[in-house]
Amino acid sequence: MCGIFGYIGPKNAPEVILEGLKRLEYRGYDSWGIAVVADQINLNKKVGAIGDLDEVNSLPKSNTGIGHTRWATHGGISELNAHPHFSTDKSFALAQNGIVENYQELKSVLLKKGYKFKTETDTEVIVRLIEDKLKETNNLKEAVRLAFLKLLGRNTVILLTKDGQIMALRNGSPLVVGINNKEIFFSSDTLSFAPHIRDVLVVENGQMVYWNSKLHLIDIKLNKTLPLNSEKINFKTSKVDKEGYDHFMLKEIHESPYIINQVVTRDYAYYESFVDEIKKAKDVYTIGSGTAGIAASQIAFYLRVFGKIRAESVIGADIYEYYELLTKDDLMIAPSQSGETADVLEVLEIARKKGVKIASYVNMPGSTMSRISDFKFLSHAGPEICVMSTKVFTSQIAWGYLLAKQVQGKALEGESNLRELAYTADKYLNTGENHEIVKKLAKLLAKHKDIFLLGKYQNFNIVREGMVKIIEGSYIHAHGIPAGDLKHYAITLMEKGVPVVVAVSEDVAKDDVINAVSQVKARGATVIGISPTALPGFDFHIPVPDTGETSAIMNIIPLQLLAYYMAVELNHNVDKPRNIAKSVTVK
Ligand code: BG6
Repeated sequence: MCGIFGYIGPKNAPEVILEGLKRLEYRGYDSWGIAVVADQINLNKKVGAIGDLDEVNSLPKSNTGIGHTRWATHGGISELNAHPHFSTDKSFALAQNGIVENYQELKSVLLKKGYKFKTETDTEVIVRLIEDKLKETNNLKEAVRLAFLKLLGRNTVILLTKDGQIMALRNGSPLVVGINNKEIFFSSDTLSFAPHIRDVLVVENGQMVYWNSKLHLIDIKLNKTLPLNSEKINFKTSKVDKEGYDHFMLKEIHESPYIINQVVTRDYAYYESFVDEIKKAKDVYTIGSGTAGIAASQIAFYLRVFGKIRAESVIGADIYEYYELLTKDDLMIAPSQSGETADVLEVLEIARKKGVKIASYVNMPGSTMSRISDFKFLSHAGPEICVMSTKVFTSQIAWGYLLAKQVQGKALEGESNLRELAYTADKYLNTGENHEIVKKLAKLLAKHKDIFLLGKYQNFNIVREGMVKIIEGSYIHAHGIPAGDLKHYAITLMEKGVPVVVAVSEDVAKDDVINAVSQVKARGATVIGISPTALPGFDFHIPVPDTGETSAIMNIIPLQLLAYYMAVELNHNVDKPRNIAKSVTVK
């Protein structure tokens, strides 16, 4: 949602922080700022995407500083509202990732005390609160600690003092500290300092880490010093460049075959205990938000179909009615790219308190979701930079398929099907004609304001994800409909020229979908069919290989390409679409 970064070391802090913010830009890119210490704190804030080095030339050389990249929640996009925010006397500058849910209440108290505010941000309230506490404590670190305890909501705060100290406090939003023998990095994720670091200090919720010539970790509430325990984080790849593709999105779609093969290189023994847990659980839930929520739904589908497990998927932000039903005999499985999605973390923390076993399948090493899981799995899909998730979604549903096959007792069959799929998908992606077919249809669809997608059985979640991708990339209203539901309401919207995209496999639902196609055709719709063979009623056909049980995973690839080429056709910012962020670490 926002990214925070801090640096102490022999290099020039403005340059190091700028690189770190660029790696965090996927978390929000409305505006950004850098503050460094050189006899005083020097601050540079800008609206828009992170600039390049000349942007920071106005800053003096320094070895200590903090930075922030913003996704606006409270207060519009402006230089004034950008972080870091100065204290009144400029003795410190502060940035936040999160939302202070009680900021109005705190602000009204501070206003009555005579404090002035220049911005509409909740973050400025934290600054004034610290100033207020400082009057009581006359000690900045203690003032910061006491002020942080007053904040409600999920936050991470980082603060730079004019004498070169850095303090960072965490409660809910991510915070990691990278250490090597001469540098210290503070950040929202490990990826941002990946090339420089291998040891990461784990900072838990309710903890404060600070540097004043050495690193300290304390429990914020107890004000008690804690041991610094770092863990090795290794990255399969920390390369973050487009490698010749026009956009990260296209590169990441092309990585799908490699990612699918990653899924099958796993430690089966480690999975045995997890499979046992799935079989013996009273209720099995899968949970995610956004694209990961759809992956969660497909994982539950595979567990029902192949594992014969009554698995149910829930949406990260909305499971209130389930809380009373959760018991210590239940299992909750969370696919997540970042492992930091607040909507899901909040549910997992409540479920955990009820004794529910937690499993997570996460892409970002060292995430909160992994740390709170009883069963921790990593997708090792490498950095996914495009805000629109593609290769990680593919990894999540391939992982779910293989898991279900292992529950079925047919892991080896599942593995060979996925290897076959990886090979087939690679051929599909490297055949120029397949891209030309999709590109032509993307041009046609980009002209429309409403696009409908039809699917059923294994393809329903696939067309839902196609809907999400088209909405994210084209800002066009797309609507993924269960094919069986069409005649009960959506059919009223069918008229001449209305575009309907269908995904079909050689499966039990094929005839039902063909039937739905005939219904929309009868009302003049234009049908684009994704299927192994052209079917009756198709106006346009996107041919895909028939990959049997993994057909739905194959079908998502042309849909991801379709969304990509539509976004390109509309000249949108493909890798950073408007208004969304890669990881939403606030509710
Ligand atoms: C959204 C992203 O903000 O969060 C989606 O735009 C993503 O791509 C969703 O699926 C959940 O994020 P995560 O990190 O839990 O997969």
